[in-house]
Amino acid sequence: MTTQLFDLTGKTAVVTGTSRGLGQYMARALAKAGANLILTSRDKSSLTDFQTELNDAGTKALALDLDVQSYDSIQTFADAAASEFPKIDILVNNAGCNVRKPAAEVSWDDWNLVVNTNLRGSFFVAQAVANRSMIPNNYGRVINIGSVTCVAGYAGITPYCASRGGVKQMTASLADDWGPHNITVNCLAPGWFKTKQNAVLYENPEWVEYICDRIPLNRPGQPNDLDGTVVFLASDASTYVTGQTLLVDGGISTGATKATVD
Ligand SMILES: NC(=O)c1ccc[n+]([C@@H]2O[C@H](COP(=O)([O-])OP(=O)(O)OC[C@H]3O[C@@H](n4cnc5c(N)ncnc54)[C@H](OP(=O)(O)O)[C@@H]3O)[C@@H](O)[C@H]2O)c1
Repeated sequence: MTTQLFDLTGKTAVVTGTSRGLGQYMARALAKAGANLILTSRDKSSLTDFQTELNDAGTKALALDLDVQSYDSIQTFADAAASEFPKIDILVNNAGCNVRKPAAEVSWDDWNLVVNTNLRGSFFVAQAVANRSMIPNNYGRVINIGSVTCVAGYAGITPYCASRGGVKQMTASLADDWGPHNITVNCLAPGWFKTKQNAVLYENPEWVEYICDRIPLNRPGQPNDLDGTVVFLASDASTYVTGQTLLVDGGISTGATKATVD
């Protein structure tokens, strides 16, 4: 019974931004639970090794080009995905980016890059997949990737925090809009994981010590730390969960500071 609840055999999942990082971690977890995978990158040749890894492990994996900054690219991607897999059950909106600068130095283009990639891109990918597959099939699991910045503000990444706050609210609104179509929409909000996007921070041991002190579990996220939550939100184990933002962050969003310990 427990195993069946989390079984994704026969399901098809799109995970956007699977050329590296968290997208690959989550795609691997969904594949291990039995799902077929649609992988994406702005340059699908960068997906070849990962696609081969999944195929070798017995997963049917398709690699497609997708630039979430382009409406046309989103439509072309969604048409190709739907023609290969007429039923897409799961979408993980993972593609994203960040620009680190003091707010006083953020340019118009910085703002557009970050907010349009993370927020507008996630919305229109979800709409494209829902219109072609999830609404007609009366089934879907949309998982928008958020961040601790869905619920907390941080200096130096204001456009990013604004985009993630928007993703949280978009998730709640889409859950209401698409609930009648049996589509759940949730936001998985990771804490601090070391990937290409934030590798520069981890080069500074003082920052690592600072951040770990504020994480109740005292460490950054590890590749497998998202596995259980993404499979849960993608599976029948979460049938009655929608509109939620689930933080997978070692507890940092609690605002823990250990200030009361001696
Ligand atoms: N790392 C963390 O601690 C952390 C924490 C919370 C949330 N997140 C979020 O989780 C997601 C993955 O993060 P990550 O750390 O794994 O980042 P990453 O290593 O920089 O990977 C980002 C992925 O997004 C894709 N991407 C970027 N811009 C795109 C665009 N315009 N169109 C399509 N795809 C695009 C990239 O693909 P190509 O370059 O191949 O196109 C890449 O696969 C991001 O949304 C990030 O904001 C990360």
